[in-house]
Amino acid sequence: MTRRLVPRSAEPDDPAIREAAACLQAGGLVVFPTETVYGLGADATNARAIAAVYDAKGRPADNPLIVHVRDLDDAAQVADVSSPSARRFAERFWPGPLSLVLPATALGSVASRGRPTVAVRAPSHPIARALLVAAGLPLAAPSANRSGRPSPTTAEHALAELDGRVALVLDGGSCRFGIESSVLDLTVDPPRLLRPGGVSLAVLRQVDPHVSPGGDAARSPGTRYAHYQPIVPLIALGPAVSAEVAERLVLVLDGPDAWMGTRAMGTATLVERVTADAVAHHLYADLRDLEQDHATLIVRLPDVEHAVAERARRAASWTFDSDDEVTAWIRARTPRSSALEP
Ligand code: TXA
Ligand code: MG
Repeated sequence: MTRRLVPRSAEPDDPAIREAAACLQAGGLVVFPTETVYGLGADATNARAIAAVYDAKGRPADNPLIVHVRDLDDAAQVADVSSPSARRFAERFWPGPLSLVLPATALGSVASRGRPTVAVRAPSHPIARALLVAAGLPLAAPSANRSGRPSPTTAEHALAELDGRVALVLDGGSCRFGIESSVLDLTVDPPRLLRPGGVSLAVLRQVDPHVSPGGDAARSPGTRYAHYQPIVPLIALGPAVSAEVAERLVLVLDGPDAWMGTRAMGTATLVERVTADAVAHHLYADLRDLEQDHATLIVRLPDVEHAVAERARRAASWTFDSDDEVTAWIRARTPRSSALEP
């Protein structure tokens, strides 16, 4: 039902991109790639198209959408971009993985569902940019997953989520970052990072040293909802956990006798990647792969400051920050006679 189109070039007059633009102009839904994750796009100025996005995702009505634009001039249609801080952050990070929460214009409040503020970002993915040019519209686009599921980072994953619920999927391969944009609220002083993402707090502070890390009470509306819990059991290991103890955890989870009550968890897969960027690039795809196998995912996080550490910890059933925490957890769950006891 949903058609997958592969653009031959990232140009506004590419046939696939023209078809997708026409679909959006007619109020239809199009999934498109961005540098972070795939987005479920709709004309941000069309209230019926916006309502269809909420329907397709099964998204809670009070969780507003990010509006995608080409640049700051475009953003002025939906948001008040006149503040010096809006200009500074956009000039430094656009196009790229940073969403700015700004005062909404009347048009902008269509996508933010009557809120006085709207989140806007200019994506850097060439297909997303070509689509914005071809459609000539600001595009509201949440991540292209059903509500509560991991964001898709390939066209196949988006189709697995939304087949039959959207007209078209533009296939641009796998997304570079693999986690969502940072959401920075510029309507408060000092600016507040509502969702860590593609641009780190440290780098945002190069533009304004007063950016605050947010904190739970201040979170963006979307971060209130549980995210990936139902997918697979996930165990997040901080950088202080040794490779040796991580391996022992795998053995315990895989061992037929050593572990009590593990059947539901299946086998365990340990993911170790050298950089946090690499963990981020693969995390959502890893969760999906293991969902098929009913397996437990164990992720070692090389860097606690990286946004992927926040994503993994929020999705995790268990988080351990030292060898002692892991061994205590193993001990509490294995029979006394187990050969795997330390
Ligand atoms: O990387 C991304 O941001 C991807 C790609 C497709 O651009 N989009 C994305 O959208 O992650 P979504 O809808 O899955 O997440 C949007 C986040 C939510 O946490 C939402 O609550 C927050 O942005 N948000 C949107 N509008 C807001 C507003 N006016 N004030 C505060 N938070 C807002
Ligand atoms: Mg999302």
